[in-house]
Amino acid sequence: MEQKLAEFHEREDCILYASCFDANAGLFEVLLSPEDAVLSDELNHASIIDGIRLCRAKRLRYKHMDLKDLESKLQESQSSRMRLIVTDGVFSMDGDVAPLRGICDLAEQYGAMVFIDECHATGFLGPRGRGTDELLGVMDRVHIVNSTLGKALGGAAGGYTVGPKPLIDLLRQRSRPYLFSNALPPPVVGSAISAVEMLLASNEIAQSMTAKTMRFRNKMTQVGFTIAGTSHPICPVMLGDARLASVMADDMLKLGIYVIGFSYPVVPKGKARIRVQISAAHTEEDIDRCVDAFIQTGRKHGVIS
Ligand SMILES: Cc1ncc(COP(=O)(O)O)c(C=O)c1O
Repeated sequence: MEQKLAEFHEREDCILYASCFDANAGLFEVLLSPEDAVLSDELNHASIIDGIRLCRAKRLRYKHMDLKDLESKLQESQSSRMRLIVTDGVFSMDGDVAPLRGICDLAEQYGAMVFIDECHATGFLGPRGRGTDELLGVMDRVHIVNSTLGKALGGAAGGYTVGPKPLIDLLRQRSRPYLFSNALPPPVVGSAISAVEMLLASNEIAQSMTAKTMRFRNKMTQVGFTIAGTSHPICPVMLGDARLASVMADDMLKLGIYVIGFSYPVVPKGKARIRVQISAAHTEEDIDRCVDAFIQTGRKHGVIS
């Protein structure tokens, strides 16, 4: 599994954890000391925030996807021994994609390293589904990738780090969730290996995602819904009001469509939404049926006319 994931991401080596939460909890403490600095996007996933809390490096939070602010934090931390820029490749609540090219440019200019969390990109983003770094053409400029087997790779559990061999060797010796917790169950590993093999064998699945995603986004926008993000298969149907998001999701379920309403504190107040996730298993008919159900419930609740 580890060899296949390293091959898939085109990195030297890989270490497998029971979850990506563990991979994020186990990395920063091993890699960074008090003389180092970590520069983290303010909207990074909770597991990254917790992982960073466990390390003793200087912490600097930059404004969400704001390269100017990142640069000012890089200038502020010039005296640190090693600097690590940390970002989600894709931010799951809005489906927005980190500006990785600009981040890598700044990292090279200031001698920093780049880490990305690819839970919402591995398996489907980029022409071969390798992730955000492939999509933006920076696979050879991002140093460390953490991701999950529990989303697009379908296994419901498992996470990993891929990167330079010496780092992975060090994690095997020192990373606490790896050392002090059970390994991933073999049946989960078996199914995840099959998923990765399917992706290594053909780009068809990854490429079909783009067409399906655009079908959903375009149809929904045409009838008057607002979908956040750009081209990501996470399609947040923005509704604003928390109760509206919840009752509309209930009505969608009555029509046979399982979608989830999200509201505060998971997303900011006034930004409640129903988050729709397009899957490679969906057919065009499935997508059209989902759009029809949204039209019906959206009209019922006065969201569209
Ligand atoms: C960006 C991100 N990182 C890490 C995780 C944790 O992944 P896992 O479920 O494998 O622990 C998630 C899961 O929601 C996530 O969205």
